[in-house]
Amino acid sequence: MKSEHMILGIALTNNFGAHPAAWRMPHVDPGSYTNIDVTVEYARMAERGGLQFVFIADRLFLHGDLAASHPLFNMDPIVTLAAVAQATERIGLVATASTSFTEPYLLARQLKALDVISHGRVGWNAVPSFEPDAFANFGKEVPPRENKYERLHEAMQVVQALWGSWGYEAGQPDQQGMFADPAHVKPVNLHGTHVGARGPLPVPPSEQGQPVIVMPASSGYGLQAAGMYANVVIGMPSSIEEGRTLRDTVRQAAAQAGRDPEEIKFLAFAGFTIGDTEHDALDSRRALDAWTDIRGPLSRLSAYLGLQQQFTRPDEPLTPAQLASVRAHPHDVRSARAVALAKAGWSPRDVLAHAVFDPYPSVVGTAEQVADHLQEWFEADAADGFMLNFDDFSTGIGGFVDHVVPVLRERGIFPDRYEGSTLRDHFGLPPQYGITTRIARTAG
Ligand SMILES: Cc1cc2nc3c(=O)[nH]c(=O)nc-3n(C[C@H](O)[C@H](O)[C@H](O)COP(=O)(O)O)c2cc1C
Repeated sequence: MKSEHMILGIALTNNFGAHPAAWRMPHVDPGSYTNIDVTVEYARMAERGGLQFVFIADRLFLHGDLAASHPLFNMDPIVTLAAVAQATERIGLVATASTSFTEPYLLARQLKALDVISHGRVGWNAVPSFEPDAFANFGKEVPPRENKYERLHEAMQVVQALWGSWGYEAGQPDQQGMFADPAHVKPVNLHGTHVGARGPLPVPPSEQGQPVIVMPASSGYGLQAAGMYANVVIGMPSSIEEGRTLRDTVRQAAAQAGRDPEEIKFLAFAGFTIGDTEHDALDSRRALDAWTDIRGPLSRLSAYLGLQQQFTRPDEPLTPAQLASVRAHPHDVRSARAVALAKAGWSPRDVLAHAVFDPYPSVVGTAEQVADHLQEWFEADAADGFMLNFDDFSTGIGGFVDHVVPVLRERGIFPDRYEGSTLRDHFGLPPQYGITTRIARTAG
């Protein structure tokens, strides 16, 4: 049965925000890219609001045009979260690490050590890499998809087996007896086509046993893998209908892998710029957009509105003649939203400032509008929770915690406080340790 409370986490992928111009805002320190105190401050803010986790994506190459913006991804997710772990107490810490390069022994050790030092608050976003730039950094070319996922399956199985290699039964250090019972700290001896490990891993169970496994909803291969291994799946549906379908697909993938679909949570991406009024929020977004070249988005908008012309007056509402000929593309929620905003009298620049072309559904508006979006999706079974993206962290995270969280609590759809201490508790997941017999059978 679905929980009555939604799960909320923040994508803290760099220290500025999801908008590429956030670093240029006068109230932002442009040196934040390398400042761990800033990451810690945002994680603590999120913890103050009782949010279940912070999340760091990763791409394994220098991603971004440095002339225009900072590197889009964090210097190193695991190292960063090790520092955040020491400065926080309850919030979950989800690190992305690719299955395509690092040997499972190292992946297993780093993630479980982080889980132990954070007292059971770690999640692993296990992704196969996909960009040639990432493979080039390991002297490789992108392999065929089947090989990429074959390696992912092997890596997931070896990592989980290693996590379980120091059994609970090994006990606690006994100064008069054994430090740990070696009979319960055993090798795993797994060898596949791509990776393998002997084990055991020198890391005992954490408070939640082992890290929670998060995986993205990607191609059929990715969904099948998520059905087998993931505790939590993240995706970017663009509408409630798409969210519902994706959540159902993920649940079916879990059922096909012999699991109870209730044990897999689906989180949808959502983006926000929050203001005291919708106009304030739009002003903030416009200040960010002012640093980007909007000629491309304006042409795209014209096409999305079904118009054959360029906008010569982007700050004026559409003319009656233009309004008479706008048409939404059928089945395209972005186009439908753009048409609705243009018809409501917003200028092309303002339609863009409503974030119609963000890669996930975004709200530029008040705390109530943000809460409405989350509630509507949650109650429609389009998601069990959300990966929150803020245009500008320096205003967005505090704004969400102080103004949106109280509304969600008042509506009874977000917990008043942390009910448990581990990330597994925050997600409402059952205990899990080591490679399950279900997966071990698959691994043969
Ligand atoms: C919501 C979401 C989050 C993702 N996060 C990352 C990430 O942090 N790092 C990464 O290298 N790939 C990330 N990916 C990409 C996937 O791992 C995958 O490589 C990509 O979707 C292509 O998958 P395919 O080969 O199955 O089509 C993400 C994908 C989705 C849908």
